[in-house]
Amino acid sequence: MIDEKKLEELKRQALTQIKEARDEKSLETARVKYLGRKGELTQILKSIAKLPPELKPLIGRLANQLKRELEEAFKEAQAELKKRREEHLPGVDLTLPGRPYPLGRLHPITQVMQEICEIFLRMGFSIASGPEVELDYYNFEALNIPEDHPARDMQATFYFAPKVLLRTHTSPIQIRTMESEKPPLRIIAPGKVYRCDSDVTHTPMFHQVEGLMVDEDVSFADLKGILTIFAQETFGSETKVRFRPSYFPFTEPSVEMDISCVICGGEGCRVCGQTGWLEILGAGMVHPNVFRAVGYDPQKWVGFAFGLGVERITMLKFGIDDIRLFYENHLRFLEQF
Ligand code: FA5
Repeated sequence: MIDEKKLEELKRQALTQIKEARDEKSLETARVKYLGRKGELTQILKSIAKLPPELKPLIGRLANQLKRELEEAFKEAQAELKKRREEHLPGVDLTLPGRPYPLGRLHPITQVMQEICEIFLRMGFSIASGPEVELDYYNFEALNIPEDHPARDMQATFYFAPKVLLRTHTSPIQIRTMESEKPPLRIIAPGKVYRCDSDVTHTPMFHQVEGLMVDEDVSFADLKGILTIFAQETFGSETKVRFRPSYFPFTEPSVEMDISCVICGGEGCRVCGQTGWLEILGAGMVHPNVFRAVGYDPQKWVGFAFGLGVERITMLKFGIDDIRLFYENHLRFLEQF
């Protein structure tokens, strides 16, 4: 039987639940519980017709009044929740889909440099390093390039002071390594180098990987074998190589190594200037004067060295025709690798 006490109790319960609702969902659950189609108060309102006539006016009035009070309380609670949400996240529309989080990747030059190093690490080489700000002695003198030697013009140099410069190649690392380690040795030295140079195939800062192997019975055949494996692992097993005579003051004899053109496979195209070949590195047998500079006996020790430009290898690998793209930081370019 419905009476005033029961309505009072219902009111107390409903108001407590409204007050305790922490979010819109629990507030709606409470609303349905009391005011929904099958809600407790709705049921009471429906059953008023069946009450004894003397109770009908009083209970009817109280129940309708409670309905209005609860509706008002729900409205106020809803407004309060909305206000609180907006205070915490002003102007934020929680219904919008989330933004994808951009995933970083390694720069293509870094990727290729790591690949190159891994190929040589598998062949028993270990990694060596040296400073980017270098002394004239290590960059030139000890590499058999004395002052006023015309070979200095081959590498336009940035100087800090007369004998202090930004290294123009990774070859000074050969000298530093041989000064501190006894032969035999087998190292590669990846790193940044600098030259006053800029066009579609040259940048003022670029990367080289240097290689050096010294032992008692190293021959030019070892140099050819190791560099052929490197070329075929980098550009594919079909790649052909050829060696042309060249000149570097720190190697004798010196060569440049070409690979069959990665675009036309050797037929001749625009990229290889119709020759079918692309130059990828310089190399040679270590000059006796270089051994003398580090205190190795040139009668006992022989060695080979090579140096390659990482940007050039990366451009050929991915078919990129302008070196400057690597350093303009356009995400749409970099995200392709
Ligand atoms: C040298 O630097 C020698 N130290 C290589 C060497 C090492 C020879 C050991 C023999 C023994 P070269 O100046 O040719 O050689 O440079 C090597 C490579 O660096 C070039 O083939 C080219 O790919 C790259 N390179 C040179 N200048 C630039 C530049 N400004 N921007 C990008 N790459 C460059």
